[in-house]
Amino acid sequence: MGAWLHSSLPALTEQQFVAWQQLIETRTGIDFSQHLPILQGGLFRRLRELEHVDVDAYFKQVSKQPEGLHEWQRLLAHIAVKETSFFRQPAAFELVRKYLRKRVTQTQTLDVWSVGCATGEEPYSLAMIASDVIEHSETQPFLGVLATDMCTEALQLARGGCYREKRLEQVPASFRRRFFTLDSEQWYRIKPELHQRICFAQANLLEVDRLPALPMDVIFCQNVLVYFRRGRTKQVLDALVARLKPGGLLVLGPGEAAHWQHPAVTRTAHQGVSAWLHRAENPVPQPISEGRKV
Ligand SMILES: C[S@@+](CC[C@H](N)C(=O)[O-])C[C@H]1O[C@@H](n2cnc3c(N)ncnc32)[C@H](O)[C@@H]1O
Repeated sequence: MGAWLHSSLPALTEQQFVAWQQLIETRTGIDFSQHLPILQGGLFRRLRELEHVDVDAYFKQVSKQPEGLHEWQRLLAHIAVKETSFFRQPAAFELVRKYLRKRVTQTQTLDVWSVGCATGEEPYSLAMIASDVIEHSETQPFLGVLATDMCTEALQLARGGCYREKRLEQVPASFRRRFFTLDSEQWYRIKPELHQRICFAQANLLEVDRLPALPMDVIFCQNVLVYFRRGRTKQVLDALVARLKPGGLLVLGPGEAAHWQHPAVTRTAHQGVSAWLHRAENPVPQPISEGRKV
């Protein structure tokens, strides 16, 4: 390790901060304009790893396309907030379970999308709930879970499907037995039967339109749009609605997109959850009425 690693890098100038902030927001939607310490902290961690001292040269390197894209991905792993857990925000999973109980009787394939899946705990939680619902239902629709994130490093961990025991605190004991094997002391691995239900793919939310247009029964997008400006949030949500099957369910994090409305969806009444139901077949645009029950 170079001696300089132990000395601190000089703080970003206002001009450097604005340039980095704009580059990141243009490419990811994440607005760091009020979060200099987070942006600078992530950037400097990567620069220290690289033993790189010239912030401006590094900026030029990652700005280049396509040459800089590999390094851009390495940087993303440091600046993207990837906090997650199994069954995070349990009320949202309760809502999904309730919704799927009805839905399984109406469809032959159940398509669920975890948008911004980070290290995989969210799509595996959704797959566990959906598998459980299917197992207890008379109909047996095919289950497919799409799990996307822009960060390849997070996706690699997600695909691995191996978690320390401590990460499983919120997983009910019966689910642990059914869906995990104990790999080695303290490491639990997702069983192949569940793992094979999930397709992990790198995708940027700003480019939803480039994804194959597979319509979804459930789109679960929690704690991703909190970092986006309101206008961008609307753009993304409008694109997600276009991916819902008629009658499909869109779930966001609590309090997210409180002001967003779209003629094709109605807000659901479920305490502590921000969720919208796609209107029935051939929706006729009409004013949003609050509080439709799932
Ligand atoms: C805080 S984590 C949330 C993880 C999970 N949804 C949850 O609630 O536990 C946010 C995730 O969104 C991803 N993300 C942020 N902006 C994105 C974008 N433009 N496209 C795709 N993923 C994005 C990040 O890489 C990160 O993994």
